[in-house]
Amino acid sequence: LENGVARTPPMGWNSWNSFGCNINEALIRQTADAIVSSGMRDLGYEYVVVDDCWFNPNRDSSGNIQGDPTRFPSGMKALGDYLHARGLKFGLYQVPVDKTCAQYFGAYPGATGSRGHEVQDARQFAAWGVDFLKYDWCSPNGSIDEQVATFAKMRDALAATGRPIVYSINPNSIHAKTGPLRDWSDVSNMWRTTEDITNAWDTGQTNGYPMGIQNIINVNVPLARYVRPGGFTDPDMMEVGRGGMNDTEMRSHFAMWAVMASPLIAGNDVRSMSSATLTILTNRNLIAINQDSLALQATQVSFDGTRRVLAKPLANGDVAVALFNQGGSTTTISTTAAAIGKSGSSFTLVDAWSNSTSSSTGTISASVPAHGTVVYRVSGGGTTTPPPTTPPPTTSSAFA
Ligand code: DGJ
Repeated sequence: LENGVARTPPMGWNSWNSFGCNINEALIRQTADAIVSSGMRDLGYEYVVVDDCWFNPNRDSSGNIQGDPTRFPSGMKALGDYLHARGLKFGLYQVPVDKTCAQYFGAYPGATGSRGHEVQDARQFAAWGVDFLKYDWCSPNGSIDEQVATFAKMRDALAATGRPIVYSINPNSIHAKTGPLRDWSDVSNMWRTTEDITNAWDTGQTNGYPMGIQNIINVNVPLARYVRPGGFTDPDMMEVGRGGMNDTEMRSHFAMWAVMASPLIAGNDVRSMSSATLTILTNRNLIAINQDSLALQATQVSFDGTRRVLAKPLANGDVAVALFNQGGSTTTISTTAAAIGKSGSSFTLVDAWSNSTSSSTGTISASVPAHGTVVYRVSGGGTTTPPPTTPPPTTSSAFA
């Protein structure tokens, strides 16, 4: 979406993965403080997104949406001010249907969706200082045409406020049908491509609830052609630091989000994260690859069912290459400079995790542990044609 924001993948934190409905202003403020004191803010994590359950289930007598006065006694504007004062940005959640997911599933009474209130609600968000709206289709109903028209209403209402607001949509809540098959960059800055992520490597899903990291990667990789500055596929908030994976898997999760030009939205409790988690989330090499100004999602160079090679061209002519082992035992994964779009015979490889440098005459290879990902930044030589285009999505059965 050409609305001036999200020229590179948005970075930040979202309350849902760790806290669900158990949110309040003390938690959000403490989280904001931790994002600053941990150094995450200075590496780009700026959007603090309050997900479902922040609202008063009843609108006021003028039909204005309101914050929950018990959870957010200082009000939503005060929360935005708190974040802005710390150099952070304010994100809020809402739905384009009648009920949020928490309301739909009965965890919260009332019905506060923006359906029919788009202009009024967008103005309210702008008045509160909102910088990011997550807009979540919490309904099993609705054709793709209805989704497009409804999401576009809020796009236009946000634009009419004049405030730069990242527009993040989820066409897939209880509804994993349309996301993978459409280029939503005409409607939004980022669009969820799968059902909800969970804190596990593999749940055996193709695109149903809940999705493991490996399952999401399988769906998201073929969508590279849709990504550009202002429009990003969104494989969901990260589960790094949530305990459901081993260290190799958590690193792979972060590395793959980085090369897929995915929004890097942390979902862990950053107030109490381990130094190992912080080290993953603050890997400068991977953040630089993710935030590169070309804003391209890595495309697939090769995949034999176990060994997946992806390449992401970077603005200075370097190419990031990911060697991802989807199998259960250590294996060697190899590609070549030519295959990732480099010409010449002398290259320098920087390993994103170890930061060590090696040289190559064209072979790019590593021994990769089970579920691991090695990422090299490859420089030197010239840049030839882009790597082979990722095959188009093959998820059409999910659209039935
Ligand atoms: C479904 C979304 O996919 C989640 O990310 C989260 O926003 C929940 N809804 C909140 O109810």
